[in-house]
Formats: sequence, C-alpha cells, structure tokens
Amino acid sequence: MITVGQTVRDLVAQAAESTRPLAEARALPPACYTSEEFFAFEREAIFAHTWLCLGHQNQVPNPGDYFAITLIDEPLLVVRDQEGQIRVLSAVCQHRGHPIATGQGNCKQFRCPYHWWSYALSGELVAAPEMDKTVPIADLRREIRLPALKVELWQGFIFANFDPDATPLAPSLVKLSDEMANYEMERMVVMPETDIPDLPWNWKITHENALEPYHTQFVHKGYHEMAPASTATFIDWDPDDGQIMHPTYFREIDGGLNPTGKAMFPIIRGLTEEQRRRTVFASVPPSMFLSLKPDQVFTFLDLPQSVGKLTLRINFYFPEETVKQRSFQWTYQSQLACTKIFGEQDGATNANLQRGLRSRFAPRGRYCHQEATLPQFSRWLVKRYRQYLGLEPAVTASGVATNGR
Ligand code: FES
Ligand SMILES: [Fe+2]
Repeated sequence: MITVGQTVRDLVAQAAESTRPLAEARALPPACYTSEEFFAFEREAIFAHTWLCLGHQNQVPNPGDYFAITLIDEPLLVVRDQEGQIRVLSAVCQHRGHPIATGQGNCKQFRCPYHWWSYALSGELVAAPEMDKTVPIADLRREIRLPALKVELWQGFIFANFDPDATPLAPSLVKLSDEMANYEMERMVVMPETDIPDLPWNWKITHENALEPYHTQFVHKGYHEMAPASTATFIDWDPDDGQIMHPTYFREIDGGLNPTGKAMFPIIRGLTEEQRRRTVFASVPPSMFLSLKPDQVFTFLDLPQSVGKLTLRINFYFPEETVKQRSFQWTYQSQLACTKIFGEQDGATNANLQRGLRSRFAPRGRYCHQEATLPQFSRWLVKRYRQYLGLEPAVTASGVATNGR
C-alpha cells in the first residue's frame, strides 16, 4: 500500500468526467499519461490488483519449461512445474535479490547466477552453497521460497495477480469468452514472440489506439480499406466487464488486413459465417490486447517500463493444421511484414501523442462516435482508481467489500 498524495486524488476526481456517456465524456487528464506520481499510483491501484496476461499455456507445454517476463519493474518467471501445474513466481532471488533467470528454456531447477542458490520449479529453496556454516539448510528451506502470484488460465492464456485476495477473472470476461469459443484457443500453436522494448509512450495510449477505429481511415489510409471504420460496431459495457471490445466488418467474407484484403491462411474451422465477416478487437486491461480474425489470432502484451515507456510483446496463434501447411512460413513472413507496417504507423502516432500530452496546452478532448470504446476503457480504469482510494467498494475473493486508503 502506498500513500496517495493530493495531486493524484485530484486527478482521480477529474477523471470521473471521462466516464460519462460518449457525447459528454472527455479524455482523461493529460497528467494521467505523463505524471511519475500518477504512474506510481497505477502500479498499485491497477497492476498490483488486476489480472495480468503474461502469455499462453502452450509456451510452456512440458514440465520444466519456463519464460521470464518483466512488467512494472517486476521480474517474473512463468514455469510449468514437475506436476504439470503452471506457476508464476517472482524471479528475484531471496538471498540478495539477483534475478535467477532470464529468457526462456527448460530446466529442472533454477540456479541464481550470483551465489548459486537453487530453487525448485515450484519455488522452494533447494540448495544454498556454504550456507550451512551460518544457518542450517533445513531452516533456510523452511524459511525461504520464491514469492508466488495467484494464477488463472483463461482460454489457454496465463494470467497472474499480485493480489492473493483477487476475485476470479473468468466471470468478468463472459462476452469475450462467448466470442472466442469457436477458436479453441487452448489448442492453438503459439508463434515465437516479437518484443519491441522502450516504446516512448504511456501504456494506456496503446490500448486507446488499438481500441478505437476512428484513426484507421487516416493513420492507415490505403491500408485498412478492407475493414473500414464505418463498419465498426460497439457493444454496451457493464461495470463488471473485464474486457472492452468491438467488432469491425470486412468488405468481404474471410477478409484479412493485407494487400489482398483476404485472409492469407486457411479459415479457422468452426467459425460462424458472422465470425468470418469480421475482426474483433478486444482489450483485457491492463496488459492484454487481442484481435480475432477469420484465419488467425493476434495478441500484444502491454508491459509498462515507466510512465512514458513500455515494451510490446507480439504473438500470433494458428490452428496446428495451418502451421503444417507447406507454404506456412512464407505466408507467415508476409503477415509479419504487414503487421510491421501497421505497427510503425501506430507507433509513430502514439509517440507523437505522448509528446502532445506533455504540453501545457494538452486537451481533454471530446470523443467521436467511432471512439465509443474509449470512455468504456476510462470507466474500467476509474473504477479501479476509486476502489484503491476506498471511494467505492472492492469485492475480494473472500467476499468482503473493502474500503481502503
Ligand atoms: S543473490 Fe542469489 S544466490 Fe545470492
Ligand atoms: Fe492503428
């Protein structure tokens, strides 16, 4: 728990204006995107109490498989233990704090590079060289383990929560779960991720850019015509919703965001005709954005490094039969090239927006009807800001409504 100053409290009060109906809502106060103090508040109010997507279960298919991931300066390890259970552990060695692993791989134990203390895949201390002359190893083993986060698997995606008393994630994602049922995400092949570090904008700008179709006809002019903003539809948002989502329709069935306008990979079996006519864009804030298309699923993880810097981790998912096609790699490379173009167009826009928001003339702008998802995202945020400050009740796993700080 942190002490929250008056500046942040004032910003949260002003942010209420962002939660009004579309025609009355205004953008969040610019300082919510640029203030170090506000980011420190969000680290606790948002990131320490909400479900964070860290990856997909098929990235760690076998016991001993692990990958490291860092967000809000917390080095974490996602690992499948010897019993097959997926765990999310702090990567911080409980001797003197060196991260015990980076990257990804398979191992039987984790060994800290500094003094070679080693830990089981489930986090228990196994060995600590030379320590028995100071403290019996049995005592150390009783006392020390890597801190573990609460874990929930949803649609094959691995979510973790720093809050041990967090309520389950899945009930908040019913609308998106229904939309994804035919995709059989648990069985999809996860392609190797692309990490893009040090992107110079606030983490919320990523979601807002990805969620609103308004810009696609301008920033992506000539590239997004097969799925025009005019075909975007919006969905009512309920206060308990954990996703913000909207479908955009292709001009033709089985469309794709590439120069042909058509899906480049085989259409995913089991999709309805309606699903083949559209792409669904969805945020599961704070860390996940995904898009469902007739032939593929795409995600990026929004991993903040500081108030104005983040890493994006990009992944594609395909059915196994797609990946086995002889021409798959060639088509996949073409897909990556298309995605890179969209990424560069959005990236330049996001970086410029962050510069504009630092100005003394930065606006709290009005929204277009094609930005209807943005007040929804603000409602998701403001609810959690207010819960952390005790301005509205927060329900915990034990069912107790808490009022805070
Ligand atoms: S810091 Fe890890 S063994 Fe010393
Ligand atoms: Fe875009």
